[in-house]
Order: sequence, then C-alpha cells, then structure tokens
Amino acid sequence: MIVSAEPTEAVLDLGVDPAELRRVLSHFCSGIVVVTGMGADGPAGFTCQAFSALSLDPPLVLFTPQRTSTSWPLIQRSGRFSVNVLEAGQEPISNAFARSGTDKFADVGWRLGPYGNPVLDGVLAAIECELYETHDGGDHLIVVGRVLGMVEHPDATAPLLYFRSRYRSLV
Ligand SMILES: Cc1cc2nc3c(=O)[nH]c(=O)nc-3n(C[C@H](O)[C@H](O)[C@H](O)COP(=O)(O)O)c2cc1C
Repeated sequence: MIVSAEPTEAVLDLGVDPAELRRVLSHFCSGIVVVTGMGADGPAGFTCQAFSALSLDPPLVLFTPQRTSTSWPLIQRSGRFSVNVLEAGQEPISNAFARSGTDKFADVGWRLGPYGNPVLDGVLAAIECELYETHDGGDHLIVVGRVLGMVEHPDATAPLLYFRSRYRSLV
C-alpha cells in the first residue's frame, strides 16, 4: 500500500500544542463522574470526565486524575473510592467538585455507601471500588479500581454529557 507523505488538511500534528490537543479531543463526548472517598478529615472528591469501564472478569474500571489533584491523594490513602455517575441537570455538582480547595460537600446531599464511600444524592449510579492498580499516565495517573458494589437510581433518565467543552443532555 502506498501512503502519501504529503500532509493534507485532515492531518493534524497533535503532538505540538496542548491547547490544540485538548480542543480536538473535546470532540469525544462522554458522561461525567465525581470520584469520591473518605479522607482522614472527611469526604473528598473531584469531577472527572476521563472514566471508563475496563474489565468484566475481574470487574475493573479506570479513571485518570491529574497529578496536581489535591483530592485524589486523600482518597487514595483510604484505598477505596466511589464513582458517581452524574444525571442530566447536575452541572452545579460537576462545577462544585471541579473547584480545588473548596468545601465541595457543603451544598450537596450524600450518604455513605455499603463500602464506606460517599454516594451523592440523585446520581444515576454509584460504583464503589477498592484501589487495584495505579499506572503512569504522563501528567495524569491511570487509576484502576476493582468493583466492590454498585447502586443505581431506580428511575434513571438521562446522563449529564460533556462535548466540546460544554455540558449537554440527551433531553
Ligand atoms: C467537565 C469536567 C471534566 C473534568 N475531567 C477531569 C478528569 O478527567 N481528570 C482530572 O483530573 N480532572 C478533571 N477535571 C478537573 C478537576 O475536577 C479539577 O481539577 C478539580 O479542581 C480537582 O480538584 P482537587 O484539587 O480537589 O482534586 C474535570 C473538570 C470538569 C469541569
């Protein structure tokens, strides 16, 4: 097969400019989760778009916290966390948990899940995990969790989505 060496308009050099890389990757639409856990001084959590199912057997999921995250080290120490899948309309929760250094749990209802992690009110699902493995991911970490238990909203409707740096909804 002959592949032209000539760049075309469709070929972008993704390795050069981080802002451009972020902009192009923003075309990948995803849901939004809030990763929560119990730190030594109380609940901790942060908003995360980079979440994925990983394995059914063993049951694994993954997410990628920035190395600069102040909440992840607190959660990591407990060895457990919960992944809260946000519902449409929960933009305020997403924004609150994206603000570093604030009392993120002040204006949100929550309870402890069966495995001792904060489960936020009104989320579509909460997946409680134990820390399984952590890998290098450049300026992020790749955190793999082994699923311990799950709860889901009985009347789940629509997810909160994120596409091209804006919140979206199916409805
Ligand atoms: C929609 C959205 C998606 C985000 N996705 C991620 C992500 O995948 N990984 C990450 O580390 N931070 C992500 N963030 C940013 C963190 O939520 C933000 O840096 C937060 O302040 C970290 O808080 P902390 O310092 O308490 O850990 C996202 C923020 C928003 C609003």
